[in-house]
Amino acid sequence: MSKPHILQTGPYPDWDQVPLDASFHMHRYFEAADKPTFLAEVGPQVRGIATRGELGANAAMIAACPKLEVISVYGVGYDAVDLAACRDRGIRVTNTPDVLTNDVADLGVAMMLVQSRGMIGAETWVRDGSWATKGLYPLKRRVWGRRAGVLGLGRIGYEVAKRLAGFDMDIAYSDVAAKDYASDWTYIADPVALAERSDFLFVTLAASAATRHIVGAKVIDALGPEGMLINISRASNIDEAALLDALESGRLGSATLDVFEGEPNLNPRFLSLPNVLLQPHHASGTYETRQAMGKLLRDNLTAHFAGQPLLTPVL
Ligand code: 8YV
Repeated sequence: MSKPHILQTGPYPDWDQVPLDASFHMHRYFEAADKPTFLAEVGPQVRGIATRGELGANAAMIAACPKLEVISVYGVGYDAVDLAACRDRGIRVTNTPDVLTNDVADLGVAMMLVQSRGMIGAETWVRDGSWATKGLYPLKRRVWGRRAGVLGLGRIGYEVAKRLAGFDMDIAYSDVAAKDYASDWTYIADPVALAERSDFLFVTLAASAATRHIVGAKVIDALGPEGMLINISRASNIDEAALLDALESGRLGSATLDVFEGEPNLNPRFLSLPNVLLQPHHASGTYETRQAMGKLLRDNLTAHFAGQPLLTPVL
């Protein structure tokens, strides 16, 4: 039987690409110089899309593939997939939940520690000889025992909060409702009120139209000049223009960000700020997790074309 044709929106490591090429006829959209022409040529044969969290599949891509049956996302976030278009046409969608939760939580907590203790500047202090010429490194703010807010206590938010408990932090969270598995932590429905009582505010919400800019000027001002914002979710959860204004004016203390509007081409205003830690959307970027994500992406495609139940369906 001929191999199903799959449109591939971005590169994967060899350990995924080799088995994908063996089982499917992969069409590398991301390598095409003229993407609309490429899509018009291969779209009519395409039965599956293999994509990544941040790349998704938009309405135009889906429309260009009239035989499309399934979209498999390498990532937990599927906000960049046009779900309405998929629902209309009965297209199945899968993602890679659970396997990346702990690594994403680890990176978020590491970002808080690195920024609060000024570790990037401290490294430079050693390397450029400042330690010997200028003496002791400037004092920074402690983390343990302080107040943390977690905006979105889903799988990732829960693992972040668990880790913060290890630093004896005073933990509160916002979500649509209080969680029965979070009885040690304070539930505060309103994100502004959560920010007001937080030194560190983690954004761990699954992004959707409903959460767009949920962290806006009010939340940012409530966090204040001593507060730190940590985003390991999606850029769209934060009003980036309001964030940049607050960081530039000092109305917000600092931010550590793994995600950006228009990434990887982030707003250049970020680059001249001294009070940010900027990370290249790599919270799930460990060998262990990326191998598990790749396997789940492939297993979902394989299951679909074998007529088996999907492992991790979204739709
Ligand atoms: C990316 C992510 O998919 O899980 C998500 O939603 O955004 C990430 O894991 C990853 O960077 C691979 O592209």
